[in-house]
Amino acid sequence: MQTDDYLKPIERGPGITTMMRPLKVLGMTFGRRMVILQNEKGECMIHSPFPIQPGMEDPFASLGPVKRLITPTTFHDTFLQDAIDFYTEADPFVARGMKAPFDRLPTLVHMDTALSGWEKDLTPIQIRGIPLLNEVVFIHKPSQSLLVSDLVFNLGSWQGGYTRMFASLLGFSNTPGPSRLFRSVIKTMDSFKQSLNAILEHPFESIIPSHFDVVETRGPDVIKAIRDRL
Ligand SMILES: [Fe+2]
Repeated sequence: MQTDDYLKPIERGPGITTMMRPLKVLGMTFGRRMVILQNEKGECMIHSPFPIQPGMEDPFASLGPVKRLITPTTFHDTFLQDAIDFYTEADPFVARGMKAPFDRLPTLVHMDTALSGWEKDLTPIQIRGIPLLNEVVFIHKPSQSLLVSDLVFNLGSWQGGYTRMFASLLGFSNTPGPSRLFRSVIKTMDSFKQSLNAILEHPFESIIPSHFDVVETRGPDVIKAIRDRL
């Protein structure tokens, strides 16, 4: 893989830094990217958090304290307990429907609450019609980025033979989009497509997903293409 933010923080615009850690799913190298956001007050929020590990650069050495952890899909609980234990000043917020027990998560707190104080920077959009995941995506206005978890897999530079074969099986080897597994759990296609249209009402250029490569430009074209081929 050649992802620029693998094990090191990369600034992608005003108030937004990303870093990827290793993650294998079913033997396939996916990687997991966290997005570190900083607001005008200097407070940080992490989208899809994981703890800093040996060998990683600490992006918070020059940023402010982490106050909120966002788990924007029910499938991104893999590192959540470790993150809760690591970022001791942060409050965790999760997608609706997450069931796993967490020590410091006695009640589910929805994203809308998590965004209080961040309205100037972030617009959340609930992806409807796929209740198993309940993914929430975000428009990060200062960087004109769309933050997604699993809605878009962009294989890009991840050209290893096994990874490419697996991506082909999962249906995202040729063009950025959701995997076949993701598509298989869409319950209400009309609601899902309405959510994609809701995304397209906002200006953005790049798409920053939780796995594989960032879509650097023409992000709306990727969302339109997903909508039109489903
Ligand atoms: Fe994911």
